[in-house]
Amino acid sequence: MTFKELSQTRFSVRSYSNEPVSNKQLDYIMQCAQLAPSAVNFQPWHFYVIKTEEMKQKIQQCYNRDWFKTAPMYIVCTILHNEAWVRKSDEKPHGNIDIAIATEHICLAATEQGLGTCWVCNFDAALCKEILNLPQNEEPAVLIPIGHLAEDCTPAPKKRKDINEIVSYL
Ligand SMILES: Cc1cc2nc3c(=O)[nH]c(=O)nc-3n(C[C@H](O)[C@H](O)[C@H](O)COP(=O)(O)O)c2cc1C
Repeated sequence: MTFKELSQTRFSVRSYSNEPVSNKQLDYIMQCAQLAPSAVNFQPWHFYVIKTEEMKQKIQQCYNRDWFKTAPMYIVCTILHNEAWVRKSDEKPHGNIDIAIATEHICLAATEQGLGTCWVCNFDAALCKEILNLPQNEEPAVLIPIGHLAEDCTPAPKKRKDINEIVSYL
């Protein structure tokens, strides 16, 4: 697959089969997350792979949607705020940017492996933090359900702004 084909193939999967993700695929995906760039190479992140029934049920409480429960596993991506680069000129913290890049590496690597994912940010972050027993400066930023697509799961056509609207050549 070319990068464009990979980008086209990835879509928000909201229906999974119960077939488990193999350890080989999971290791590959996490190695792709590890390779993500970050500001000053600080790598201010952690990834919690949620596989046990007990932990899955707890994470499902943070985002109470029927489709979310169909995923065979989840990855919780957290920002280590005390390790993230902060730009001196205006004090802009870059942990959010770093975690977004690593998260998308996970989603694209999973797509390449024939798996589905969905970014989930509209979850109860306080509850998630409590469940994972995270320290104050570690923020759960994204939940990623990950798994094989259910048979009836088909991508919706991509709705994107026109290229001329989003690109300016100066
Ligand atoms: C930062 C971010 C947060 C998102 N949060 C959610 C979410 O909480 N729940 C959800 O169902 N989809 C969520 N999405 C998925 C978007 O709705 C989806 O990416 C967008 O509609 C484009 O569709 P596509 O991913 O199928 O190309 C999120 C996506 C991003 C990038």
